Amino acid sequence: MSKRVRKVVFPVAGMGTRFLPATKASPKEMLPVVDKPLIQYAVEEAIAAGAEVMIFVTGRNKYAISNHFDTAYELESELQERGKEKLLNMVHNIVPPHVSCVFIRQSMPLGLGHAVLCAEPIVGDEPFAVILADDLIDDGSGCLSQMVQAFSDTGSTILGVERVAREDTEKYGIVDTEGDEQLLEVKSIVEKPKPEDAPSSLAVVGRYILTSGIFAQLAQTGRGAGGEIQLTDGIARLMQREQVFAYQFKGKRYDCGSKLGYLMATVDYALQHPELKEDFKAWLESRFS
Ligand code: G1P
Repeated sequence: MSKRVRKVVFPVAGMGTRFLPATKASPKEMLPVVDKPLIQYAVEEAIAAGAEVMIFVTGRNKYAISNHFDTAYELESELQERGKEKLLNMVHNIVPPHVSCVFIRQSMPLGLGHAVLCAEPIVGDEPFAVILADDLIDDGSGCLSQMVQAFSDTGSTILGVERVAREDTEKYGIVDTEGDEQLLEVKSIVEKPKPEDAPSSLAVVGRYILTSGIFAQLAQTGRGAGGEIQLTDGIARLMQREQVFAYQFKGKRYDCGSKLGYLMATVDYALQHPELKEDFKAWLESRFS
């Protein structure tokens, strides 16, 4: 089996209800952190990890995402005419020429597991990654690059995990593992357990490298937590046949699916932004002095 991860699936069909009305006509993955939409950070992370095929599983409001990754001829010629070279390069180079984008429609909102299963015709029989763009991870080398490296050693399914507060286990897939090394074998996994039922506080965040064996399992996975077909339940089935690992990545994660996490990311990214950081820091400090 190849250990190259060429394809990345981005499930982007969610309703984004926590950000209404901002997400009424635009997907939550298009929310910008400073000046870049969440989905672009995710695609850049995938490309940095060596992936070449971006597979977007879309739902309603899909056009904003496909337009974002397509050529914007009118905008480009306008910028060219006005001599705005820097901006022109920025919009022209969002996706490098060796990378292709594929869009699949998830016709029914049946959950994350179902969204991943929708990508099977494009992924085929090779390992692939899944990135949930609302988990924004700030790390120089990129979280997915770290996981691709670990995958090249194991060739097994790897889930990006981090410790969360006990009271937050109900928001995540939670894994049971042994030890506390960076790469851990998963003994069990459960979707959104109550704190008192959670096997640990090690939570799966939105980064997965999956073997293609997941598709057969997802096809047989019934509705689970929240009445949805859960990726977590498919992974639990996969574990009966294949080893699954959890990887404690380096880097800071922002839960941009919540307003608080989104605001934290915005502040931290603004404080690192070359054009903004000094003025923004001075303004922020003046607010608290
Ligand atoms: C999804 C997954 C969950 C995972 C989480 C990470 O949940 O179902 O297992 O821990 O993403 O962000 P959601 O946030 O879509 O409810």
